[in-house]
Amino acid sequence: MKGKVVIITGASSGIGKETARALAHAGATVVIAARRAEPLRQLAATHPGLVPIPADVTDDTAVTRLIETTVEKFGRLDILINNAGLGMRALVEKTKPEDARQVMDINFFGVLRCTQAALPIMRRQGAGQIVNIASVLAVIATPRNSIYCASKFALLAFSDALRLEVRSAGIDVITILPGYTDTPFFDNLVRYDGSARMSPFAGQRPEHVAQVILRACRRRRRQVSLTFLGILGGWAKRLVPGFVDWSLRRSV
Ligand SMILES: NC(=O)c1ccc[n+]([C@@H]2O[C@H](COP(=O)([O-])OP(=O)(O)OC[C@H]3O[C@@H](n4cnc5c(N)ncnc54)[C@H](OP(=O)(O)O)[C@@H]3O)[C@@H](O)[C@H]2O)c1
Repeated sequence: MKGKVVIITGASSGIGKETARALAHAGATVVIAARRAEPLRQLAATHPGLVPIPADVTDDTAVTRLIETTVEKFGRLDILINNAGLGMRALVEKTKPEDARQVMDINFFGVLRCTQAALPIMRRQGAGQIVNIASVLAVIATPRNSIYCASKFALLAFSDALRLEVRSAGIDVITILPGYTDTPFFDNLVRYDGSARMSPFAGQRPEHVAQVILRACRRRRRQVSLTFLGILGGWAKRLVPGFVDWSLRRSV
């Protein structure tokens, strides 16, 4: 990672924050982006390799500025980590279309915006890595998570297609599918009723997810799934979908 220039969205909190820290410690220059400037400033104060540029991934102009400023300052862009995300827990019948649109705008169109802005630079360089943070809910859909799952299923399909389009330009597309992780994600998600958390147990640490992301970049992995339950759920969905439906129905 030494000398690499990285942009990470959603770096003010959780997985993004820990990944930014880990990358900076590994010697990268990391542009940290999110909407809130103050947590970015505080994070940047912990390591000289962290450079804050506040940006909302739903804003075309802000995304263009983020990418252009990075290239102006550091001359290149080696890795883009599309991590910014928002959860939503609601029954389909109760889902307000404007909330669904907001989740899709951050989780899917935000990735599209950032990727489209970064690709010309990576093509010019003849190298680059785009890392998309999806979820185990990109392969298994659970009740009360329809919109969130739809956004992550879409992101997985987008990543698979993009990988085929850019491989010959020397650009890797890496998809990370984290399982349940202890971050403020569950305090922030859109929900009208019911519990925010799907499980009473503690999730994996965001520091662990960060190390997996770094390893995936170093080894140029295609896709990495995390947590035993997440991996098991993905396989079970393929092999015994009826049984998975039966067990998930009980959690509505
Ligand atoms: N936690 C889990 O169990 C889990 C599991 C699987 C996948 N994931 C995925 O992992 C990623 C990170 O989630 P997390 O758990 O670290 O959650 P988190 O702590 O809530 O972090 C979400 C980050 O996204 C940023 N963000 C939200 N809307 C944004 C926007 N419009 N523009 C720019 N930044 C925006 C937030 O910063 P600001 O509010 O400052 O903008 C924050 O930094 C997400 O894509 C999530 O779907 C999480």
